[in-house]
Amino acid sequence: MSEPYVSIIPDTDPILRAVSSPVTIPLNQEDQQLLQSLYRYVKDSHDEEKREQHGLKPAVGLAAIQTGVKKRMLAVCVEEEDEEGNQEVFALALANPKLLSHSEQKSYLKSGEGCLSVLDEHPGYALRHARIRISGYDLLTNKQVNLRLSGYHAIVLQHELDHLDGILFYDRIDKEDPYRQVADAIEIQ
Ligand code: NI
Repeated sequence: MSEPYVSIIPDTDPILRAVSSPVTIPLNQEDQQLLQSLYRYVKDSHDEEKREQHGLKPAVGLAAIQTGVKKRMLAVCVEEEDEEGNQEVFALALANPKLLSHSEQKSYLKSGEGCLSVLDEHPGYALRHARIRISGYDLLTNKQVNLRLSGYHAIVLQHELDHLDGILFYDRIDKEDPYRQVADAIEIQ
Protein backbone atom coordinates (compact mmCIF):
# COMPACT_ATOMS: atom_id res chain seq x y z
CA MET A 1 0.00 0.00 0.00
CA SER A 2 1.29 3.42 -0.89
CA GLU A 3 0.86 6.46 1.34
CA PRO A 4 -2.32 8.48 0.77
CA TYR A 5 -1.96 11.82 -1.00
CA VAL A 6 -2.04 15.07 0.95
CA SER A 7 -5.40 16.87 1.14
CA ILE A 8 -5.52 20.43 -0.11
CA ILE A 9 -7.06 23.19 2.02
CA PRO A 10 -9.18 25.78 0.17
CA ASP A 11 -8.70 29.53 0.53
CA THR A 12 -11.95 29.82 2.49
CA ASP A 13 -9.82 28.58 5.42
CA PRO A 14 -7.93 31.47 7.08
CA ILE A 15 -4.89 29.25 7.65
CA LEU A 16 -3.93 29.98 4.02
CA ARG A 17 -3.22 33.55 5.22
CA ALA A 18 -0.74 32.42 7.88
CA VAL A 19 2.98 33.18 7.60
CA SER A 20 4.93 29.93 7.69
CA SER A 21 7.99 29.35 9.87
CA PRO A 22 11.45 28.20 8.80
CA VAL A 23 12.38 24.56 9.31
CA THR A 24 15.61 23.15 10.71
CA ILE A 25 18.18 21.91 8.21
CA PRO A 26 19.02 19.04 7.97
CA LEU A 27 15.33 18.21 7.84
CA ASN A 28 13.97 15.85 10.43
CA GLN A 29 12.07 12.80 9.22
CA GLU A 30 8.65 14.38 9.61
CA ASP A 31 9.61 17.41 7.51
CA GLN A 32 11.28 15.22 4.89
CA GLN A 33 8.15 13.13 4.59
CA LEU A 34 5.93 16.15 4.25
CA LEU A 35 8.15 17.73 1.59
CA GLN A 36 8.28 14.43 -0.29
CA SER A 37 4.50 14.15 -0.15
CA LEU A 38 4.10 17.68 -1.55
CA TYR A 39 6.40 16.80 -4.43
CA ARG A 40 4.68 13.48 -5.02
CA TYR A 41 1.28 15.15 -5.33
CA VAL A 42 2.55 17.64 -7.92
CA LYS A 43 4.50 15.10 -9.94
CA ASP A 44 1.78 12.45 -9.92
CA SER A 45 -0.86 15.04 -10.85
CA HIS A 46 0.69 15.05 -14.35
CA ASP A 47 -0.30 11.41 -14.79
CA GLU A 48 -3.88 11.13 -16.02
CA GLU A 49 -4.40 7.67 -14.57
CA LYS A 50 -3.22 8.69 -11.10
CA ARG A 51 -5.29 11.86 -11.29
CA GLU A 52 -8.43 9.87 -11.94
CA GLN A 53 -7.64 7.13 -9.48
CA HIS A 54 -6.78 9.45 -6.57
CA GLY A 55 -8.81 12.56 -7.43
CA LEU A 56 -5.72 14.73 -7.89
CA LYS A 57 -5.96 18.13 -9.54
CA PRO A 58 -3.32 19.04 -12.13
CA ALA A 59 -0.64 21.16 -10.46
CA VAL A 60 2.81 22.61 -11.02
CA GLY A 61 3.45 23.61 -7.42
CA LEU A 62 2.30 23.10 -3.85
CA ALA A 63 3.27 24.70 -0.54
CA ALA A 64 3.12 23.05 2.90
CA ILE A 65 0.58 25.60 4.15
CA GLN A 66 -1.88 24.29 1.53
CA THR A 67 -1.93 21.07 3.52
CA GLY A 68 -2.36 22.96 6.79
CA VAL A 69 1.28 22.92 7.90
CA LYS A 70 2.88 26.31 8.60
CA LYS A 71 6.38 25.40 7.45
CA ARG A 72 8.48 27.08 4.79
CA MET A 73 8.53 24.22 2.31
CA LEU A 74 7.28 23.93 -1.26
CA ALA A 75 7.50 21.65 -4.26
CA VAL A 76 7.38 22.45 -7.95
CA CYS A 77 7.38 20.19 -10.99
CA VAL A 78 6.98 21.50 -14.50
CA GLU A 79 7.21 19.03 -17.37
CA GLU A 80 7.56 20.53 -20.81
CA GLU A 81 8.87 19.72 -24.26
CA ASP A 82 11.74 21.60 -25.83
CA GLU A 83 11.79 22.56 -29.52
CA GLU A 84 13.03 19.11 -30.53
CA GLY A 85 10.21 17.46 -28.60
CA ASN A 86 12.45 16.19 -25.80
CA GLN A 87 10.87 15.99 -22.37
CA GLU A 88 12.31 18.46 -19.87
CA VAL A 89 11.55 18.55 -16.17
CA PHE A 90 11.98 21.51 -13.83
CA ALA A 91 11.61 20.07 -10.35
CA LEU A 92 12.45 21.30 -6.86
CA ALA A 93 11.45 20.32 -3.33
CA LEU A 94 12.63 23.30 -1.30
CA ALA A 95 12.94 23.95 2.39
CA ASN A 96 13.47 27.54 3.57
CA PRO A 97 13.46 29.01 0.07
CA LYS A 98 14.48 32.66 -0.12
CA LEU A 99 14.10 35.30 -2.77
CA LEU A 100 17.59 36.81 -2.97
CA SER A 101 17.05 39.38 -5.71
CA HIS A 102 14.77 40.20 -8.59
CA SER A 103 14.52 42.24 -11.75
CA GLU A 104 12.61 45.49 -11.90
CA GLN A 105 10.98 44.17 -15.02
CA LYS A 106 7.67 42.38 -14.48
CA SER A 107 6.04 39.40 -16.13
CA TYR A 108 2.65 37.74 -16.00
CA LEU A 109 0.87 34.70 -17.34
CA LYS A 110 -1.36 35.64 -20.24
CA SER A 111 -3.98 33.08 -19.24
CA GLY A 112 -3.83 34.11 -15.56
CA GLU A 113 -2.72 31.92 -12.65
CA GLY A 114 -4.47 29.07 -10.93
CA CYS A 115 -4.04 27.49 -7.53
CA LEU A 116 -5.11 24.19 -6.00
CA SER A 117 -6.51 26.11 -3.02
CA VAL A 118 -8.49 28.59 -5.09
CA LEU A 119 -11.79 27.30 -6.44
CA ASP A 120 -13.36 30.59 -7.60
CA GLU A 121 -12.36 32.30 -10.83
CA HIS A 122 -10.08 35.33 -10.42
CA PRO A 123 -9.43 36.62 -13.93
CA GLY A 124 -6.60 39.09 -14.50
CA TYR A 125 -2.84 39.42 -14.60
CA ALA A 126 -0.92 38.51 -11.44
CA LEU A 127 2.19 40.66 -11.82
CA ARG A 128 5.48 38.99 -10.91
CA HIS A 129 9.18 39.74 -11.24
CA ALA A 130 10.45 38.66 -14.66
CA ARG A 131 13.72 37.28 -13.25
CA ILE A 132 14.58 36.12 -9.76
CA ARG A 133 17.44 34.59 -7.81
CA ILE A 134 16.47 32.16 -5.10
CA SER A 135 18.21 29.91 -2.61
CA GLY A 136 17.06 27.02 -0.45
CA TYR A 137 17.71 23.45 0.51
CA ASP A 138 16.52 21.09 -2.24
CA LEU A 139 15.49 17.67 -1.01
CA LEU A 140 15.53 16.15 -4.53
CA THR A 141 19.27 16.73 -4.92
CA ASN A 142 20.06 16.96 -1.20
CA LYS A 143 21.85 20.25 -1.86
CA GLN A 144 21.69 23.88 -0.93
CA VAL A 145 20.80 25.50 -4.25
CA ASN A 146 21.17 29.00 -5.63
CA LEU A 147 19.23 29.49 -8.85
CA ARG A 148 18.46 32.15 -11.41
CA LEU A 149 14.99 31.72 -12.86
CA SER A 150 13.03 33.50 -15.54
CA GLY A 151 9.91 32.98 -17.63
CA TYR A 152 7.32 30.48 -16.48
CA HIS A 153 9.63 28.89 -13.88
CA ALA A 154 10.11 32.25 -12.13
CA ILE A 155 6.33 32.75 -12.01
CA VAL A 156 5.68 29.30 -10.56
CA LEU A 157 8.33 29.81 -7.88
CA GLN A 158 7.01 33.24 -6.90
CA HIS A 159 3.46 31.89 -6.64
CA GLU A 160 4.66 29.20 -4.22
CA LEU A 161 6.92 31.58 -2.26
CA ASP A 162 3.90 33.84 -1.76
CA HIS A 163 2.01 30.98 -0.09
CA LEU A 164 4.69 30.89 2.63
CA ASP A 165 3.76 34.48 3.47
CA GLY A 166 0.00 33.97 3.27
CA ILE A 167 -0.32 35.69 -0.10
CA LEU A 168 -2.60 34.34 -2.84
CA PHE A 169 -2.20 35.03 -6.55
CA TYR A 170 -5.33 37.16 -6.80
CA ASP A 171 -3.85 39.58 -4.23
CA ARG A 172 -1.47 40.51 -7.07
CA ILE A 173 -4.28 41.30 -9.53
CA ASP A 174 -5.32 44.94 -9.79
CA LYS A 175 -8.89 45.03 -8.42
CA GLU A 176 -9.87 48.13 -10.41
CA ASP A 177 -8.24 47.04 -13.65
CA PRO A 178 -7.44 43.30 -13.67
CA TYR A 179 -5.83 43.39 -17.12
CA ARG A 180 -3.83 46.56 -16.48
CA GLN A 181 -0.83 46.81 -18.80
CA VAL A 182 2.49 47.55 -17.15
CA ALA A 183 5.26 49.19 -19.16
CA ASP A 184 7.93 46.74 -20.26
CA ALA A 185 6.25 43.68 -18.70
CA ILE A 186 6.78 40.31 -20.36
CA GLU A 187 3.69 38.35 -21.29
CA ILE A 188 4.18 34.62 -20.84
CA GLN A 189 2.00 32.22 -22.81
NI1 NI B 1 -1.18 28.13 -5.14
